[in-house]
Amino acid sequence: MRIFPLPIVVASLLVLAACNVGSDDTSTLPTAFVAPPVVTAAPSRGAMLARDLCSGCHGESFSGATVGATSCPSLRALGAYSTTEFADLLRNGVARGGDQVDSFMSLNVEIDDNDIPVLLEYLKRAVAAR
Ligand code: HEC
Repeated sequence: MRIFPLPIVVASLLVLAACNVGSDDTSTLPTAFVAPPVVTAAPSRGAMLARDLCSGCHGESFSGATVGATSCPSLRALGAYSTTEFADLLRNGVARGGDQVDSFMSLNVEIDDNDIPVLLEYLKRAVAAR
C-alpha cells in the first residue's frame, strides 16, 4: 500500500472543509453568489437621441409644443420621410417637399451620420403609436 505524504493529506482535508461539500445551507454562501438586483432596461439609442435633441422643442411625446414665442409642430410628418429626406432636414433645414424650415433648427441639431436612421426609426414608431 502506498502512503501519501502527510502534508498533502492535511492540505486536502483543509480544502474539503473550506468547500463545505454536501451542505445545503445557502446562508454560508459568499455574497458573490447572491443574485444581483434586476436592472431596468436602458432606453434605446433612438429614444435617447430623440429626448436629447428634439423633445426640448417638439414636446416629450413629439406632438408639438411652444417654446417662448416659437411654435414647434408635431413630428407626425416624419412618418412619410425617407432617411435621405430626414438627413436633408437635419443637415440643411430642408423639409420633405423642399420647404426651407426655420434655419435655427438645423443649426441646433448635432448628430452623427450613423445616428440619423436610428433616430428616424424611433420617431416614426413614436408618432405612429398615437
Ligand atoms: C430649437 C428648437 C427645435 C429643435 C431642438 C428641433 N426642432 Fe424641429 N422644428 C422647430 C421649429 C420651430 C419648427 C417649425 C419651423 C417652421 O415651420 O419654419 C420645426 C419643424 C420641424 C419639422 C417639420 C418639417 C416639415 O415637414 O415642415 C420636423 C419634421 C422637425 N422639426 C423635426 C425635428 C427633429 C427630428 C428634431 C430633433 C433632431 C428637431 N426637429 C429639433 C424647432 C426645433
